[in-house]
Amino acid sequence: MASSSVVPSCVALALLLLVALAATANGDELSAGYYEKTCPNVQRVVRSVMASSVAAQPRMAPAVLRLFFHDCFINGCDASVLLEATPFSPSEKDVEPNASLTGYTVIDDIKSALEHDCPATVSCADVIALASRDAVALLGGPTWSVPLGRKDSRFAADPESTKKGLPSPHDNLGELVTMFSRLNLDARDMTALSGAHTVGMANCLHYSDRVYGTDRDEEIDPSFAQTMQQMCQGPSGKASFDVQTPMRFDNAYYRNLIARRGLLTSDQTLYGGGGLQDNLVEMYSTDGEAFARDFAKAMVKMGNVPPPKGMPVEVRLKCSVPNY
Ligand code: HEM
Repeated sequence: MASSSVVPSCVALALLLLVALAATANGDELSAGYYEKTCPNVQRVVRSVMASSVAAQPRMAPAVLRLFFHDCFINGCDASVLLEATPFSPSEKDVEPNASLTGYTVIDDIKSALEHDCPATVSCADVIALASRDAVALLGGPTWSVPLGRKDSRFAADPESTKKGLPSPHDNLGELVTMFSRLNLDARDMTALSGAHTVGMANCLHYSDRVYGTDRDEEIDPSFAQTMQQMCQGPSGKASFDVQTPMRFDNAYYRNLIARRGLLTSDQTLYGGGGLQDNLVEMYSTDGEAFARDFAKAMVKMGNVPPPKGMPVEVRLKCSVPNY
């Protein structure tokens, strides 16, 4: 008898918890102190799991930074990129621009550590935002205060919107400006954020058109083109964005653009058209602090993009699946 009354009350409790975690709006202001009372160690936990993951696998740092960008661009910064496919809904992960994303395991490790310390409190979207800030710092770049309090969407975007929502490596300047402006990010934000391509790598399939001369729009240093063509050999050919300091978050990206050594067409298009755009690239190439400042500011701005109005949101207990 006793056990039959315990079971339903457990179920009722679990349901209550899920209802408490779920919401329908996500318009609340974000704030750096959001978890001050509910999870005071959140920043320390994220930093320590990131530090040990990156020490074991340095490539996780650029991977996590890229995850944040791909999360925020599709339906806002809502961790929708982490959702696995189900028989009823496809996953953003499987759509081509996302197929080369990695770093999911680090986010899962951070989330598990947080669930242990403060269960059902910190959203996966906030985990990505904090982890990408720490990734940049671990790569020797700037740090900043991350506004928190994001919620996780219960649904992923459909494949068509995912594909359309992300910039392509073949985009020209005008296309990039339009793409970023949809998220209220201006040309300066876009130019600073693109500086993330001072770290990490790209697969040949994303830059072959540029280095073999099929994307003819942008100039290329011939010796750079030749070296990059060599990196294209083999089925999994890939190259570092910045050959000299591939794992240092510095302003070398902009010096590379001036030298016509941008790896993607969408990188090189940021320089050479003249005007204010060229002035920005030249400024960042000589003033690393101005780049660091603008990059940090633009990361906060990108991180403020909310999920669409009316999207049901919650604090996911496991980042790859909605709560029920
Ligand atoms: C401007 C439009 C952008 C385009 C078209 C673009 C495209 C790409 C492509 C094609 C790759 C190579 C993926 C692969 O082959 O594995 C890549 C890598 C990367 N992107 Fe972007 N990206 C853009 C902006 C950004 C922004 C705004 C950020 C972050 C703030 C970012 C962060 C990264 C990082 C860190 C990598 C290296 C990932 C790794 O090594 O695992 N990108 N991007």
